[in-house]
Amino acid sequence: MVLQKKTIILIEGPNLNKIESRDSIYKSDKKLADIIKMINSSFNIEYFQSNIEGEIIDKILTLIDSDIVGLIINPAAYTHYSIAISDALEMLDIIKVEVHLTNLYKREQFRQVSVTAKNCDTIISGATNYGYFLASEYIKFNLNN
Ligand code: DQA
Repeated sequence: MVLQKKTIILIEGPNLNKIESRDSIYKSDKKLADIIKMINSSFNIEYFQSNIEGEIIDKILTLIDSDIVGLIINPAAYTHYSIAISDALEMLDIIKVEVHLTNLYKREQFRQVSVTAKNCDTIISGATNYGYFLASEYIKFNLNN
């Protein structure tokens, strides 16, 4: 029997579409496309990036009652203050992993607060974009349990 691959989604927030122009702390020797390929061996993966809070919220809301089984989200700067994204995440009852490229706990104090993490299952912070792969492994492990 051939098992159909399940679908997960990776959502990235503001300024992550211009990673090459950002501070070198965000850089990784693997490109996002390489990481997506790695995830693709376990899941079909959809990718969505927006610099607009409302677009991210609308995207999260489309996932309610969809066939997407897991969400990986890097809300970027919205992490620290978007109650609206946090509320949208609260409504979504699938496995949710918040990922940050950098280790927030080594950074400025305002980055050490996440208002969105409380509505995710776990958080991975500081593994660069390899964190997205780790998040997909977390989702796989939890779907099989
Ligand atoms: C980030 C950390 C945020 O503080 C910052 O605003 C980002 C990226 C990270 O992935 O480390 O844009 O979410």
